[in-house]
Amino acid sequence: MSATTDSNICIIDHPLVTHKLSFLRQKSTGSKEFRALVEEIAALMAYEATRDLPTEDETIETPLETTTGRFISGKKLGIVPILRAGLGMLEGILKLVPNAKVGHIGLYRNEKTLEPVEYFCKLPDDLPERDILLLDPMLATGGSAVAAVEALIARGAKPEHMKFLCLLASPEGLKRLSEAFPMVGIYTAAVDSSLDDNGYIRPGLGDAGDRIFGTL
Ligand code: PRP
Ligand code: URA
Repeated sequence: MSATTDSNICIIDHPLVTHKLSFLRQKSTGSKEFRALVEEIAALMAYEATRDLPTEDETIETPLETTTGRFISGKKLGIVPILRAGLGMLEGILKLVPNAKVGHIGLYRNEKTLEPVEYFCKLPDDLPERDILLLDPMLATGGSAVAAVEALIARGAKPEHMKFLCLLASPEGLKRLSEAFPMVGIYTAAVDSSLDDNGYIRPGLGDAGDRIFGTL
């Protein structure tokens, strides 16, 4: 997997990811295909974002002899999609880590102020004992991501055990999240050029939630 890392920021620019992301950006891509692409890219990103999971050796028996297997150890995983659009990434990640527990944080951006408003939060009871993958396809102003990390911290999670996975980030959003929480690893498939006056990432892919759920 090809990835460019800069401190806590990792840009996953593998050709499979850039190829699928380019289809995602196209306005001609309909909801059915859009959903499938979001899920596929999320799975490819999870592959990179779980690279540093600790493993431990254990003796196993093959049909021919005894050998040493290496199994994932350490903290269990929690996956937290930010509603709504983060839901689009969930299944792709669960395909790789099917035993992870799933929490949900509901946030929407006030259209005028662009400030996030929390409307739902349901998280695993043992959240502080888990490594957390926080999902949202879009890191625009960064307000929603910062609010979601704050909501997790308020419920006992540690920023050093969190990773934020998005498909597109603006330079402003990356700066805001990484300055607020330098311990949170940020994984994105691309960093776009700018944010427009309405808080949309340019060139972007439009409104991710609307395109996933067909509510345009
Ligand atoms: C979108 C997106 C992020 C947020 C990003 O959600 O999915 O959650 O905007 O913007 P920010 O970085 O400026 O906070 P939206 O509020 O449109 O809600 P939705 O997912 O329900 O469509
Ligand atoms: N939310 C989206 O869905 N798209 C953007 O470009 C910005 C925020």
